[in-house]
Amino acid sequence: MLKKMILPLTLAAAILGLSSAVYAEESPAEAAVEYRQGAYTITKTHFGRMGAMVKGATEFNAGEFKKDAEVVAMMSQIVGRGFELKDSITDDSEAKPNIWTDPEGFKSKLEAFQVEAANLVKAADTGDMEQIKPVFGKVAETCKACHKEYRED
Ligand code: HEC
Repeated sequence: MLKKMILPLTLAAAILGLSSAVYAEESPAEAAVEYRQGAYTITKTHFGRMGAMVKGATEFNAGEFKKDAEVVAMMSQIVGRGFELKDSITDDSEAKPNIWTDPEGFKSKLEAFQVEAANLVKAADTGDMEQIKPVFGKVAETCKACHKEYRED
């Protein structure tokens, strides 16, 4: 019985050891890229769900829409932290160097996203698609505007 336990335990220890080694080897730049890509992936998921409701591809559910809007608004508040490390560009990253050479410009694009994402939460509160639609469009414009300047195609 005891012997049977040894192999799985050794394996578990090896796997744990391996993953902590992987973490130890992750550079600060890699961690920053993962952080912001993670935040944008979550943004895209929830933005896409709202987009489907706006287009009428899925049925409008005001409660779900509001929750999605809140997640996007939250991501707009946190994603900037993933850009704090200057020049954090890795092979996996599509970030452009001008994020750090033009910090004011980047900041203004980020703030526009934050403002419109917060407006979308307010619009979602009305539960009225006619009021939601134009604000959703404005948020989408803030994504595009920033990608155009600060993300590789
Ligand atoms: C202030 C600038 C800015 C705004 C606003 C912005 N993005 Fe991005 N986005 C970026 C940058 C820069 C990257 C590239 C990050 C990297 O690869 O290091 C990116 C990457 C992404 C990615 C790819 C993530 C990955 O895993 O590679 C998605 C998806 C994305 N953005 C969606 C959105 C959506 C949807 C919005 C609006 C709701 C948005 N973004 C708003 C700058 C922005």
